[in-house]
Amino acid sequence: MIILGIETSCDETACAILKHEKGAFSVLSNTVSSQIKLHTKWGGVVPNLAAREHLKNILPVIETTLSQANISKDAIDLISVTNGPGLIPALLIGVSSAKTLAYLWKKPLIGIHHIEGHIYANLLTENKNSKTKFPVLCLVVSGGHTQLVFMKNHLSYEIIGQTLDDAAGEAFDKTARILNLAYPGGPIVSKEASQHKKSNALETHLPRPMINSNNFDFSFSGLKTAVLYLVKKNEAKLKDKKFVQAVCHEFQQAVIDVLIAKTLRATKKFKPKTVMIAGGVSANTELREQLASALKKDFPEIKFCLPEINYSIDNAVMIALAGFFRWSENQSSANFQEELKTNWKNLKTDANLKLE
Ligand code: KG4
Ligand code: ZN
Repeated sequence: MIILGIETSCDETACAILKHEKGAFSVLSNTVSSQIKLHTKWGGVVPNLAAREHLKNILPVIETTLSQANISKDAIDLISVTNGPGLIPALLIGVSSAKTLAYLWKKPLIGIHHIEGHIYANLLTENKNSKTKFPVLCLVVSGGHTQLVFMKNHLSYEIIGQTLDDAAGEAFDKTARILNLAYPGGPIVSKEASQHKKSNALETHLPRPMINSNNFDFSFSGLKTAVLYLVKKNEAKLKDKKFVQAVCHEFQQAVIDVLIAKTLRATKKFKPKTVMIAGGVSANTELREQLASALKKDFPEIKFCLPEINYSIDNAVMIALAGFFRWSENQSSANFQEELKTNWKNLKTDANLKLE
């Protein structure tokens, strides 16, 4: 089976071709056209600029992806597109393009929740001999979401905890802005943090919000404010690389400490067989390594899954993957098949789409 994936929910115009054969996946092509340069000067994504850029890029991106996969349109069995959540003007470009292709090429079309895509990025390496064992607990950490999601089975989602304010990625981006670093903040803050030397440690510790609260929720807005006050008190030091590195290190560790504590607590309570991590912040090397070793120490029998770094951040392979699993879990339903056939006109785009 061959699936064409399309993703335009934020600032990446992405298209991919995924093949599923003999129980295993292979990525035939994967194109991501990033708009980072365009949005950097605004310090964040401007929805209408993003839409204009998606509109300019979407057709060349789809064309390149098809030609790199070296397949014709006839070989495609399913089109899978992100239809929410995200920025409406941006989402509409991907969804309209996917609908047009589905109509012209007479292909079934499926709409995918962006976070479902992030979660399913973990299943790219699954094959006949190593299937994902449920229940799964997934820590979702992106620019818009921070959630602990419990899955009893495929496509079954229970959000057991989430951020009450800022998402983890948003906190990275805002901290970068306070420190006069570029957008997106995550990769830059983590690079600065990696250059920090213990001998330059800050005198003050940043808070680990809600780390001891008896639930699975998060809060990162206070942490960002603590960084702001720290920087205000030390304005002159903003030009000192060592100070910036120390703040990045302490901030990153504060986020990681909270994410790990809550994931371990949820693992203890919900007893998953597999723990996963998903979303842009899961590209963070320290988070990956520290969570892996904490889980290995406390729950050595549990399998820990990580998406490849390329597939942690926004891409269309994950949307094609989720499309495959939605299709394969529902393929025997005539209603479902009919829905996919008529989605070229009926598929809705929803900025606040719920994970269900
Ligand atoms: O999943 P994603 O690509 O887009 C959304 O769905 O939001 O996540 C983007 C977020 C941004 O906030 C970015 O700063 C963060 O992921 N991010 C990172 C790293 N790479 C990307 N955060 C921490 N460390 C990283 N290495
Ligand atoms: Zn994302």
